[in-house]
Amino acid sequence: MDKLLIEGGVRLTGEIGISGAKNAALPLLCAALLTREAVTYTNVPQLNDIDTLLKLLARMGVKVSRDLAAGTVTLDASVLDNPVAPYDLVKTMRASILVLGPLVARCGEARVSLPGGCAIGARPVDQHIKGLQAMGAAVRVEHGDVHATVPRLKGARLFTDMVTVTGTENLMMAACLADGETVIENAAREPEVVDLANCLIGMGARITGAGTDVIRIRGVERLAGTTHRIMPDRIETGTYLCAAAATGGEIRLTNTSSCYLDAVIDKLMDAGCEIVCERDAIGLKAPARLSAVSVRTAPYPAFPTDMQAQFMAINCVASGAAVIRETIFENRFMHAVELQRLGADIRIDGNTAVVQGVSHLQGATVMATDLRASASLVIAGLVAEGETVIERIYHLDRGYERLEDKLTALGARVRRLA
Ligand code: EPZ
Repeated sequence: MDKLLIEGGVRLTGEIGISGAKNAALPLLCAALLTREAVTYTNVPQLNDIDTLLKLLARMGVKVSRDLAAGTVTLDASVLDNPVAPYDLVKTMRASILVLGPLVARCGEARVSLPGGCAIGARPVDQHIKGLQAMGAAVRVEHGDVHATVPRLKGARLFTDMVTVTGTENLMMAACLADGETVIENAAREPEVVDLANCLIGMGARITGAGTDVIRIRGVERLAGTTHRIMPDRIETGTYLCAAAATGGEIRLTNTSSCYLDAVIDKLMDAGCEIVCERDAIGLKAPARLSAVSVRTAPYPAFPTDMQAQFMAINCVASGAAVIRETIFENRFMHAVELQRLGADIRIDGNTAVVQGVSHLQGATVMATDLRASASLVIAGLVAEGETVIERIYHLDRGYERLEDKLTALGARVRRLA
């Protein structure tokens, strides 16, 4: 089980490139199921989650060709002879649920294992199922699988009970081949939803309203192939900005954009950072010590839940006290107890954490529990005195491409221990 050894106390300085967005790439790759023609993706990040999804698609009959060095993937779903997503793959990557909508739309049937819960919450998929049923699919859940069948989906007016990112994406993809118009109300507005809509439109889909809370999709008979460049990863961007901010550093991030991170950038400026936004780059210069900054997570464009753990870490060493409220997931404070092992002063009360900044953290061995919790431990390890060892870093490999290389390029003393 790989571990990461970090020697703290180094100011991060320099410039690195940001990779394509994991949370855009996953739904985008599933969109290829909607057409018999080849779809080519560029700026594809090299992540374990991407590997898992490509393995799943190949099992369904999709021809996968990949140029790792160039970051391109071409998918040919002309033959789909096995519209099934088995538990052994879905349990390792819950976003596999994103094949459900495209398979039902393209094949008229699908059997997708129910993704179990995960460290951050139960994460049910009832809204995905409710939407497909509203579009005419017969859906039953048995032996841990979602079975969905329908001759052809029909356009419908859908209203999700809460804002759900992959729920919106699944239903938007399904609606592209439905008979008639579908309206998704209370839709997720995340930039990754917009990136997916842009790709689908490039394939011939008729979608308006992506990026707002009402998305309209007029179904068509078939979609064509396309070539699509995956948007930059805004959460990877925010993570490195936090790492530089916590270490009093000065960095520049390229191949990225500031326009999807307004809430995060505002908070970093409130904490005392100087930030320069360019067309496809962001620069940050941190003060010697950050001021504590409170955050409350909520759907886009509000402060993203995927940046909550990283902000808990930077508040551990900031001056003052911060209140962190997590409103999206019911158990997304797993990193707090690990940060406390490093000397952080954090008090948890339900979905609220109060972080009192301390003058310094002390290196220790800690355990990663989920992807963004791992990122917060890396940030804490970068500022802690002495050595920090992070165990179970397979979580990190799911969502951060070449993490050690990028941190080393910024001057960090970090290495992977087998
Ligand atoms: C997406 O997960 C992201 N993953 C998550 O990123 C992100 O944290 C989350 O959106 C919120 O922004 C991908 O895009 C692959 P939701 P998703 O459906 O779609 C409840 C990361 O670290 N809900 O928006 O699964 C759910 O339990 C990951 O990169 C239902 O109750 O999240 C949660 O409380 C972690 N029923 C809330 O809604 C449903 O049918 C929001 O979940 C669907 C969701």
